[in-house]
Amino acid sequence: MTTHDPVLDLACRMPKAELHVHIEGTLEPDLAFALARRNGIALPYADEAALRAAYDFDSLQSFLDLYYACADVLRTADDFRDLMLAYLERAAADNVVHAEIFFDPQTHTARGIAYRTVLDGLEEGLRIGRQRWGISGLLILCFLRHLSEEEAFATLAEAEPWLDRIHGFGLDSSEQGHPPSKFARVFARCRELGKPVVAHAGEEGPPAYVVEALDLLGSARIDHGVRSVEDPALVARLAREAIPLTVCPLSNLRLCVFGTMAEHTLPQLLAAGVRVTVNSDDPAYFGGYLNDNIRAVQAAFAFDAATWQRIARNSFEASFVDAAQKAAWIAELDRMCTVDS
Ligand code: ADE
Ligand code: ZN
Repeated sequence: MTTHDPVLDLACRMPKAELHVHIEGTLEPDLAFALARRNGIALPYADEAALRAAYDFDSLQSFLDLYYACADVLRTADDFRDLMLAYLERAAADNVVHAEIFFDPQTHTARGIAYRTVLDGLEEGLRIGRQRWGISGLLILCFLRHLSEEEAFATLAEAEPWLDRIHGFGLDSSEQGHPPSKFARVFARCRELGKPVVAHAGEEGPPAYVVEALDLLGSARIDHGVRSVEDPALVARLAREAIPLTVCPLSNLRLCVFGTMAEHTLPQLLAAGVRVTVNSDDPAYFGGYLNDNIRAVQAAFAFDAATWQRIARNSFEASFVDAAQKAAWIAELDRMCTVDS
């Protein structure tokens, strides 16, 4: 979309990586109803407008309750493929060239959907997406932190026969009262299996959860981490150790982590030299995809082009692709920014 703000226009056109998006959070109401019809399931909402009207969250938990309920329409590998394709099409339109995509197998296996079904469908979507739009994607298996350590280990055991099909492990769901320490042994095993791990921390939870995610889980990135600013020593550490934060501005606004975008801690984190990235989290529920997040941030903070270039560069540097691929995307980004400046 062209705008009257040349900086915003450039930021939207920049190639970038999306490192924090939950595939179940990309389920748009129209697809939810189409899948419900296809699978003969009744959603507890009369129509798309009624479902959208329920997107009025006052906390992470109020969102998660709806998010898990809607995921019930996902039953077959074709459903997971179509969900992935719908996301990749939108991401590619926002000039996302690479996405590292979370999925929550426990949300599905608890309903009797086989882990293989989920994986087969998501992978087929990634394969078709790469052919159609040239977009690359990696899958990150997330454990639900409101469930037990034992359940996480059972999920890991289910995933182990197909370990080469996922790239890493993450931790999501209800943060308060479920500290990273609860999963220290699970994550030690994930790291032993040779996979990078990431964790949601410091979204609703305190900065101490960010410290635990780093020290007890070995988290290579922190998902959200926006409450880190409450601990200046932690911010200094994040900057010093170049630990990426996958920040999701519209999510934070919609889940009332901040009252207004002007209160968001993104500028403080940037000013402190933290490697921040901008991402969409659950775009179907929070008012938009990656470029919608960029537009909302730009409306609040009017960053310059160099700041957006920094954020896009961070997204490639923080990704899990190899050094040559990172360098190629960063060169493409720098070329575009030079031509435009
Ligand atoms: N699962 C999906 N979106 C999430 C979020 N923002 N925080 C924690 N768990 C999630
Ligand atoms: Zn998230």
